[in-house]
Amino acid sequence: MAMTEHGLAMHGIGVRFGGLTALDGVSLQVPPDQVVGVIGPNGAGKTTLFNVVCGLVEPAAGALTLDGRPLRPRPHRLTRLGIARTLQGVGLFAGLTVLENVMVGATNSARAGFAPALLGLPRSDRDERRLRAHALTILDGLGVADQAGAAPGTLPFAVRKRVALARALASRPRLLLLDEPAGGLGAEDIEALGELIRDLPHRVEHPCAVLLVEHHMDLVMAVCDQIVVLDFGRVIAAGPPEVIRDDPRVTEAYLGATVEQSGAGTPTPDGAEAGRGATA
Ligand SMILES: Nc1ncnc2c1ncn2[C@@H]1O[C@H](COP(=O)(O)OP(=O)(O)OP(=O)(O)O)[C@@H](O)[C@H]1O
Ligand SMILES: [Mg+2]
Repeated sequence: MAMTEHGLAMHGIGVRFGGLTALDGVSLQVPPDQVVGVIGPNGAGKTTLFNVVCGLVEPAAGALTLDGRPLRPRPHRLTRLGIARTLQGVGLFAGLTVLENVMVGATNSARAGFAPALLGLPRSDRDERRLRAHALTILDGLGVADQAGAAPGTLPFAVRKRVALARALASRPRLLLLDEPAGGLGAEDIEALGELIRDLPHRVEHPCAVLLVEHHMDLVMAVCDQIVVLDFGRVIAAGPPEVIRDDPRVTEAYLGATVEQSGAGTPTPDGAEAGRGATA
């Protein structure tokens, strides 16, 4: 393993679903200043790995550490640990404006809590103003501040995804978990998203490491410092993009998947329904 113990580390993680081994001895590291990508064919275990870090799936084997200390993630405790995530879809509150959605994201960690304000209860004006300004700054950083007053449902999909990202960033995480952020986006939006993600660990204010689970190979190659390739729950390759790109094991894993999925002709079948566990 690497020398540094900063950031997130998974050590020999194993997950079983009944008779199926979803993850088998998976080790990886997400240093504080890096974007680390997890790729692999359908059913490789990517979402399972993501869920382990979120505390949604408890591993049967192995351990997690954060800055060298044991980490037992629980979904409701993530923000306090400095971890934020976006959901695979969008997941915004339809009844709140864009700005309010981001304010909620910020207060997941704040002691004061935004809930009283949402319920129409009295609450410090100064807190609220500060929160509002903070949320606006984040929206501005993602280029969507002009939509602050809009209802999420009225916005294009790509804008809603940005708002969801803003909400995750509002809690000032040290580690951001992204599950297929490019899903449903067009080429131009994916490129813009890539620039955003790549910048996160290097921001002057609140830099943030990223664990990116993503099908979209071009995006992963463009933004990641390190890439971990899963196949049937095991790490079959790990390294910087230029190494992974030329690794025959990676090509093989993807080609195998394509053949089994009746040869759609693309090595990264987007939005495919069944994992290989189901088709094999
Ligand atoms: N809750 C569950 N119960 C039973 N089996 C599961 C469960 N979740 C995942 N699996 C199985 O575990 C394996 C890994 O699934 P996972 O969703 O992690 O793959 P993935 O790499 O995210 O795939 P995709 O690219 O299709 O999203 C698959 O064979 C899947 O069918
Ligand atoms: Mg998945």
